[in-house]
Amino acid sequence: MRLGPFCLHKPSLKLFLACSFTFVITLYVFWNGCEVPSTFPTKKSEEIRGVPQTAADCSKVIAKTSNEEDEQSEKTELSLNKPADQNVCPNEERIDVVVNGEKNKLEGRLVGSEAYVPFSFVKGYFEIYGELQEVDGRTVLDWRHSYSEVHSAKADSAYETKAPFLWFETYHVEGRTRVKCISGIEEVPVSSQWNQKGHFYPIQIAQYGLSHYNMLQLDGDSEGKEKIFEDAETVSDVNWNWSAPKTAQIANVFDKERNSRVFQFSTTGLSGEGVSLSVDSATKDFIITFDLLLRGEVRVSIVVEIDNADFYTVHYTTNNDLVSSTDSEVFYGVGHWNGWRRIVRNLDTDMRKGFKLPEKKNMKRGKIALTEIQSITLRGRGSIDNISLAHSAHAHSFMAAAKWLLRHQNEQGNWPITVKRKVVDGVTLLPDWYSAMAQGQALSLLTRAYLYTKTPAYLRAALRATKLFKVKSKDKGVLTTFMNQYPWYEEYPTSPSLFVLNGFIYSLLGLYDLKLTAGPQHGTEAAELFDQGMRSLKAMLPLYDTGSGSFYDLRHVTMRIAPNLARWDYHTLHVSLLYFLASIDPDPILRTTAARWEGYTKERERNIIESVHHDANRDFIRSVSPAGVL
Ligand SMILES: *[C@@H]1O[C@H](CO)[C@@H](O)[C@H](O)[C@H]1NC(C)=O
Ligand SMILES: *[C@@H]1O[C@H](CO)[C@@H](O)[C@H](O)[C@H]1NC(C)=O
Repeated sequence: MRLGPFCLHKPSLKLFLACSFTFVITLYVFWNGCEVPSTFPTKKSEEIRGVPQTAADCSKVIAKTSNEEDEQSEKTELSLNKPADQNVCPNEERIDVVVNGEKNKLEGRLVGSEAYVPFSFVKGYFEIYGELQEVDGRTVLDWRHSYSEVHSAKADSAYETKAPFLWFETYHVEGRTRVKCISGIEEVPVSSQWNQKGHFYPIQIAQYGLSHYNMLQLDGDSEGKEKIFEDAETVSDVNWNWSAPKTAQIANVFDKERNSRVFQFSTTGLSGEGVSLSVDSATKDFIITFDLLLRGEVRVSIVVEIDNADFYTVHYTTNNDLVSSTDSEVFYGVGHWNGWRRIVRNLDTDMRKGFKLPEKKNMKRGKIALTEIQSITLRGRGSIDNISLAHSAHAHSFMAAAKWLLRHQNEQGNWPITVKRKVVDGVTLLPDWYSAMAQGQALSLLTRAYLYTKTPAYLRAALRATKLFKVKSKDKGVLTTFMNQYPWYEEYPTSPSLFVLNGFIYSLLGLYDLKLTAGPQHGTEAAELFDQGMRSLKAMLPLYDTGSGSFYDLRHVTMRIAPNLARWDYHTLHVSLLYFLASIDPDPILRTTAARWEGYTKERERNIIESVHHDANRDFIRSVSPAGVL
């Protein structure tokens, strides 16, 4: 899914640095109290980054540190455990930190026998995460290799397609920054990744559907618990709380097609005074649903309150504009249609996405909270029914994604990706490329939609989607072969091949879902493709092991360029995916690799933290003294 910048360092050198730094350097959490943080040499670290030469000078710093080792080690331990006191600065000495003999030095600190370097440097250098936080009145640096967790299949349950897909209930796809909004017409996310204007990215759409499928399976929907504002059924005064200007016409009429009483409205234009219903509902339910029949152009506007203070309006208009906004209004186009259509919108998502548009930078993003639904106003000519608010609409979102896949599958059975994708310098996928990961995630979603609705169209679409797995990348397919021996399905079908690991595994899981769902009669092709892919995976898995992490792809082999080390969150993803495959296939290579890779983050950090707390410097000297390293 990602093709990050090239790694700037040789892996062995990076590993060496990782060890030496993490051993000698603990974080200087007291720094904040004594120093102005802006003096941190972030810029310097930028310059130093990427030009490693020799580790010679490093030893001077270490030597200095070790001189006071014995008498100071107790003190170090004490200061590590002492609560941070803003007024008391620890005994400290400024030191230069020379990284690999580089001219640009960093400013470090010596506290007792422990040396400290700026965390901003460590963070950038090792691509980790971390920030200062206040916890119980203490300043804490929360350091993480990854914000994602390792997931594994439940030990006692066999993999089933109708069960939730992996751990996708934790994916809030619509909340991702690269989701521009949920389309009012297609009702699926629009991606702004690789193209600001927005495009429909099949992988993102399938993931959106799968995440809602999981939530539907795990939490259910709030059906029957909706708050209904108007269903037009009782023809009494109580139901007629709409306020309408004199020029407007409203009526409660019987609709033959739906066999239901509905609310008919007609106002002049889409911007004048409308027919409105005061709702005044303080609620945590933000999914608005209504059935709408067009008898001309219509605009449905909902006034919401944010943070108990400000009012904003979300408009849904019968046009084809994706999304736009002013200071206090957001506009979504919902297209045109014949007959009745049920519209389901998450007001919270629509608000957030609407105001995240680039022209509205000053909004405090994310912090805003929708607190109340104020009113609903109708303009134009139409009929409306069943206006309600609900807490969730997972079934709707899941099926919206599945229906999108049905509508947009092309004749060859594929979902083209319509934006250009530059993979590395000189290797670009031109618009309308295909991805094995898109096919695979679509298979996982379509099989679930079939099992959920029993509608054969979903299974047929899934069966059509396997053809691409047999078409070579050079012929606009996704199939490649490693060393003329191992077939592989490409997330990015480039030439030379990339062999992206996570995308390949997702494609295998899709094939496996189809194999299970279609059964022995129709599922043989999917089964063969899956088995063949698994053989390649097991043979090639060791190639992705760096000894301290994993490779994202094999560009260093096929393109002979610097390796692309998996970012920690991708490394964690690799581990989780392998654990799930291990629940399908008993071959020990899957589980042992997953366990070893998991150990690369966990055990190592645990051991290091232990040693820092106990006898940091002695251990350190032993492990990085030149003799020890060479
Ligand atoms: C409509 O207004 C009446 C009187 O103000 C009130 O009793 C009733 O609950 C309202 N109906 C609805 C559906 O809000
Ligand atoms: C409103 O909901 C009821 C109950 O679910 C349904 O029978 C009716 O057809 C709906 N109205 C419209 C216009 O779809």
